Amino acid sequence: MENRIRPVPRSLLITLYCYAVLALAAGLLPPLVAAALRLPEARTPVWLASSVMAGGLALLLTRQRRPSRPLVLLLGWLLLVLATVQAFGVSDLPALAAMYALTPVLASLAGRLTGRPRKALVAAHVVAAGCWSGVALMMSAVGLVALTSDDIEYVASAYALMETFDVSLLAWLNFAATLSGIGVALTSEWGVFRYRWVAAKLAISVSILFLAFGWLHDTLETTALDAEHLAETGQSAARLGSSPALVAAGFGFAFLQLLAAVLLSLYKPGGRTRRGRRLLAERRGARSREMPVMVADVREVAREVAELTLRPAGRERLPGWEPGAHVDVVLPSGRVRQYSLHGEDPDAYRIAVLREENGRGGSAEIHRLTTGTRLTVRGPRNHFPLVEAPAYLFVAGGIGIIPFLPMIRRLDAAGAEWRLVYRGRSLDRMPFTDALVRTYGDRVTLLPSDTHARPDPAALLRDAPTGAAVYCCGPEGLIDAVASAMPAACPQGTLRVERFAARGRSTEDGADRPFEAEFARSGRVVRVPADRSLLSVIQEIDPTVDRSCEDGICGSCATRVLDGLPDHRDDILPADERKRADIIYPCVSRSRSERIVLDA
Ligand code: FES
Repeated sequence: MENRIRPVPRSLLITLYCYAVLALAAGLLPPLVAAALRLPEARTPVWLASSVMAGGLALLLTRQRRPSRPLVLLLGWLLLVLATVQAFGVSDLPALAAMYALTPVLASLAGRLTGRPRKALVAAHVVAAGCWSGVALMMSAVGLVALTSDDIEYVASAYALMETFDVSLLAWLNFAATLSGIGVALTSEWGVFRYRWVAAKLAISVSILFLAFGWLHDTLETTALDAEHLAETGQSAARLGSSPALVAAGFGFAFLQLLAAVLLSLYKPGGRTRRGRRLLAERRGARSREMPVMVADVREVAREVAELTLRPAGRERLPGWEPGAHVDVVLPSGRVRQYSLHGEDPDAYRIAVLREENGRGGSAEIHRLTTGTRLTVRGPRNHFPLVEAPAYLFVAGGIGIIPFLPMIRRLDAAGAEWRLVYRGRSLDRMPFTDALVRTYGDRVTLLPSDTHARPDPAALLRDAPTGAAVYCCGPEGLIDAVASAMPAACPQGTLRVERFAARGRSTEDGADRPFEAEFARSGRVVRVPADRSLLSVIQEIDPTVDRSCEDGICGSCATRVLDGLPDHRDDILPADERKRADIIYPCVSRSRSERIVLDA
């Protein structure tokens, strides 16, 4: 995990400043107003401490671009503890709302958790939720016994026991399970509203909270008092009226809801919400729609390199994109080519294209385009995303600089440690060199081959900080040289590459074997012969399946694997993901197992 906090969004800072002001106001409320609001007298010191802590944390995050993560998390954690003390130790009910407000703030500051911290948080949530369900089951059972008994002494004891558990355990377990659940969701890829099953669990927790504090707690308290009075005066349990039934029904209903939440966790049947599907599609570039665009500008940014600005041809806005993303451009001839995106204008896609003399015609066609020409784009997709790392080394060859431009801008704004080594045939053929050197100075090393000797990839990699993420994009020779030097020269680092063209492909034993493909949605099982691609078989069943390069480099044909072992032959998955068994690019990849089950 990174030891520095990434720059926090302004909304988070505003929340913290507002919290500091509200805590100050809650602490300094005049006694008369506080009494009217039924706030406890002892509230003042804890609210003032909370105000100072929240203000200090907000100031720290404002003044330092990337403050220490342990320090920020410690302050956030203390703030949450203060709210908990205020809520339960001082019995100040507004602090309950503060606990709910602070948990998402703390989770957002923590960022994505992995390894032990994540396991600890999940374990805390499972234990709290398990205990909560267990106590709720016990309360339902005791409530049922009290409902069916005629012995008022027995009934009074049952309600006294329920009250004890209600006050001493249930409230704590409710908060612990709900807040740890929110923490798990916000520090993982799940999110709170991305999946229906997560959102449903949150709704269950909050509805039980309202049920408990809004009605059930008071009903139990009144029933327990009545039962005690009836027992003392020797009257019948029947005089309790409908209260025992309401108490038993309330706790029974709460337990059934908790049971539903447990089942949702175990079986996760809710799938993604619409928003979740959209986010996933944007992130992975899964099935993507087509957009009509118009060439708004063409300019030469280096010798033989044209930069095109594409704007929407209709009223629809262009989908957003992340550094490393590319789009498919459908040319007037019907050719489809992939180009990395750069630029800062959210209303335009900017691509740069090198004219290849011996290419297949796509780049030459692009260089003939003029402003006003209508095109179609698909995507964007991102198979070359920025990963979290303590430092970054970018190795670009020629036009391979393009995906690094937005990455570098993002990292530099975040104060990350990075370096760029940029190789090309000659300075006049290397786009954006002036801007790079002017903006980033000696972080950029230019190595045009007409004036500089070929760099030693091993030496470059040895200079990279431990654990650095190495990104390489450019000609095959450059990528192969960096990839083969990587294990010895930078063993702690990770390498991500983007290729312009597919490599030669082969299975480990060099043979294409037939296998069976099962299509989970229709239940059909089809034999894939040795001489046909899996994609061609999928197309027979679903002619609308996304595809573009059909060469394993664009990622548009990505298909989920539900069972079986993919034989990855694409150039998209990085080295550390080539054992993945949940995705396949069927235009080039096949199956190692006899049968592969696809979500298609
Ligand atoms: S169609 Fe491009 S990766 Fe399969």
